[in-house]
Amino acid sequence: MTETLTVLGIETSCDETAAAVVRGHPGGAREILSNVVLSQLDDHRPYGGVVPEIAARAHVEHLDGLIARAMADAGVGFDALDGVAATAGPGLIGGVMVGLTAGKAVALACGAPFIAVNHLEGHALSARLVEPLEFPFVLLLVSGGHCQLLAVNGVGDFTRYGTTVDDAAGEAFDKCAKLLGLGYPGGPALAALARGGDPDRFALPRPMLGRPDCHFSFSGLKTALARLAQAHQPLSERDQRDLAAGFESAVADVVADRTTRALARFRAEHTGVSAPGFVVAGGVAANQVLRARLAEVAKREGFRLVLPPVHLCTDNAAMIAWAGIERLALGLTDSLSIKPRPRWPLDPDAPPATGAGVKA
Ligand code: KG4
Ligand code: ZN
Repeated sequence: MTETLTVLGIETSCDETAAAVVRGHPGGAREILSNVVLSQLDDHRPYGGVVPEIAARAHVEHLDGLIARAMADAGVGFDALDGVAATAGPGLIGGVMVGLTAGKAVALACGAPFIAVNHLEGHALSARLVEPLEFPFVLLLVSGGHCQLLAVNGVGDFTRYGTTVDDAAGEAFDKCAKLLGLGYPGGPALAALARGGDPDRFALPRPMLGRPDCHFSFSGLKTALARLAQAHQPLSERDQRDLAAGFESAVADVVADRTTRALARFRAEHTGVSAPGFVVAGGVAANQVLRARLAEVAKREGFRLVLPPVHLCTDNAAMIAWAGIERLALGLTDSLSIKPRPRWPLDPDAPPATGAGVKA
């Protein structure tokens, strides 16, 4: 980076409406000048999941106010912006269109370059917003919509090691929480229930464990949990706790195993990199059992674990603004005619994972 860059970021790809202003300095200093996130959880809760139409309408209703607040919180005028970055995909098309159009309009009005950001690249680069971290590094992205292991070689340069062949990790948490009678989103509630439970009382499968690739699968685990829950009706509180703990422990085992494979592959492919970084991002990175397991794996494999703070792990616009800064610094800007991309894999050359329903 050769000059100070101030960028407005906009995020609307799922159920968070978010705007943030981030500044990067040539010496490496980074400042989050503002970071506002409006969660639509209450709008979607009655339906037990994100309803795309409701999400898109909520983004339309709130985004302009959030942008105004992010600018006011940052204390900068629109003329101070060196660029405007908005998520252009992947995600729910209605929401992406709202944020992308708003971002283009702001960029046009203030004469600043526009940067179309891949939401997943936002997650991937978020760690570099909070601490110095050299490329290449390994990323585990575990959220409600994604479950991937990647080598992050540089801006716009990724090698996908593994992805899920069915559900994302957070999706599995949410579905299993529902089976145990917990509200939406179930991940945090299931994790709370699991505390004090016996993870070994019920035998739950560890899908993909030991496979030589780095892919994930969670649907068999969910089915096994459903069968056990069915067989023990009505569930006592003790049953619920033990099932929750068993599920959480199975997920941690599988993710630790898949991650170990990925770190070993990275090591083999990057023999010259000493103490490489291993970043965990996405909402499921808030899970304490998983964090502890991943810390063990990273230590054993000689990687430096980087866990961005939870508010930067979950969907936010500061990571979009930061990815915008990284791109702008390299001269990577986009035309205002760029289209939204509901599917937008980080590594378009990755061979397809075996199994149906593969997420981008
Ligand atoms: O990244 P995120 O905020 O949103 C997207 O999916 O993009 O992730 C939300 C997901 C939900 O599935 C939620 O249940 C899960 O992260 N989650 C957790 C925990 N906190 C959030 N899953 C397990 N344990 C947690 N503590
Ligand atoms: Zn996300």
